[in-house]
Amino acid sequence: MSIFVTGGAGFIGSQFIRDYVVQNPDELVVNFDALTYAGNLENLDPVAHLPNYKLVKGDICDDQAVLAAMPDGCAAVVHFAAESHVDRSILSAKEFVVTNVVGTQTLLDIARHKKVGRFLHISTDEVGGSMEPGQWFTEDMPLNPSSPYAASKTSAEHMVRAAAHTFGMDTIITRTSNNYGPYQFPEKLLPLAISNAMQGDPIPVYGDGLQERDWIHVADNCRALMMVLAKGRAGETYHIGGRNPLPNLDVLRLLLKVTGRPESLLKHVTDRLGHDRRYAVDFTKTTRELGWNPEIPFEDGLRATVAWYQDNQQWVRRARSGEYRNYYERMYGGR
Ligand code: NAD
Ligand code: DAU
Repeated sequence: MSIFVTGGAGFIGSQFIRDYVVQNPDELVVNFDALTYAGNLENLDPVAHLPNYKLVKGDICDDQAVLAAMPDGCAAVVHFAAESHVDRSILSAKEFVVTNVVGTQTLLDIARHKKVGRFLHISTDEVGGSMEPGQWFTEDMPLNPSSPYAASKTSAEHMVRAAAHTFGMDTIITRTSNNYGPYQFPEKLLPLAISNAMQGDPIPVYGDGLQERDWIHVADNCRALMMVLAKGRAGETYHIGGRNPLPNLDVLRLLLKVTGRPESLLKHVTDRLGHDRRYAVDFTKTTRELGWNPEIPFEDGLRATVAWYQDNQQWVRRARSGEYRNYYERMYGGR
């Protein structure tokens, strides 16, 4: 049996693969990744030698490359690949439409052609737009994306649902809240703040810093994804969250306490354009149907994450300097 994972060199996809290949030694995992700036093969070092892991470098918008790489009789596509950073989508939205919408449609077409068993599409709580204070996003609420990133992820969701409705494909959509943990590219808030704190550099706080995000450890998220893949109902959407919406300033103050750095490192800067105030996902349905709950309390997960960045300063240095991008040629050059 085999599964086809897209974007497996990124933050969440690499955690999923590191866990999945070890837990399922009889299944082949094909990691199909274009290795954009967000793809870092060093994230897969712990499992790259295993016989049930295979890397194929390719773009999800390239029909021929996807067709050639997706194994016949593939049990599932697990689709992580995306342009994922909101700030970049504000600077330039086009790549987000191409990868997140056209790329998703390319995968759907080829998965249907290859009669893939199940298509698991990884989406985001941002498709619901900003929640009111105290409001929680449920699976049946209307979609109301704000940023170009969220709009592209919403469009992708619509294409997935259309494929299920029109062609009877077995598709599932998951919407996750803000993930944190090891191997996250240091452009997102927590890895950026951790590495800046470690160096004693200022930490940029957008606007008043009172925007709320619902933090979940990436390992908890991947455990949920495996349960959805194995036991989720076709055609359904499942929310995955931490039940832990916190203002950014609270998160950063806790981080400074954990790293032993002064709060004077926090520097308020111009706010993100169109910045959503609150995300908070209600995942009652996922708990009820699949028995899943997050297990890692935020403060424990944050301490472990800080410890990981402290213990892996070479990874951080190479991610920040861009050196990680030479890895493919060095390891796989000529193939
Ligand atoms: P990431 O940016 O760390 O990784 C994205 C991966 O996709 C990289 O390995 C990159 O090389 C690859 N990729 C990009 N364009 C590609 C293309 N055209 N063809 C093939 N591969 C391509 O992303 P992440 O944070 O791991 O997020 C993974 C998924 O989860 C995304 O779909 C994202 O929208 C979603 N998500 C992320 C979060 C979060 O907090 N990080 C929360 C909810 C949902
Ligand atoms: O909610 C899920 C989403 O979480 C995912 O779909 C996205 O792929 C992922 O990038 C993330 O989006 P956010 O915009 O919430 O994450 P980011 O880490 O960029 O920012 C988190 C919050 O911190 C947000 O309110 C903006 C703020 N921020 C961010 C950065 C990078 C700062 O205040 N300073 C910063 O330097």
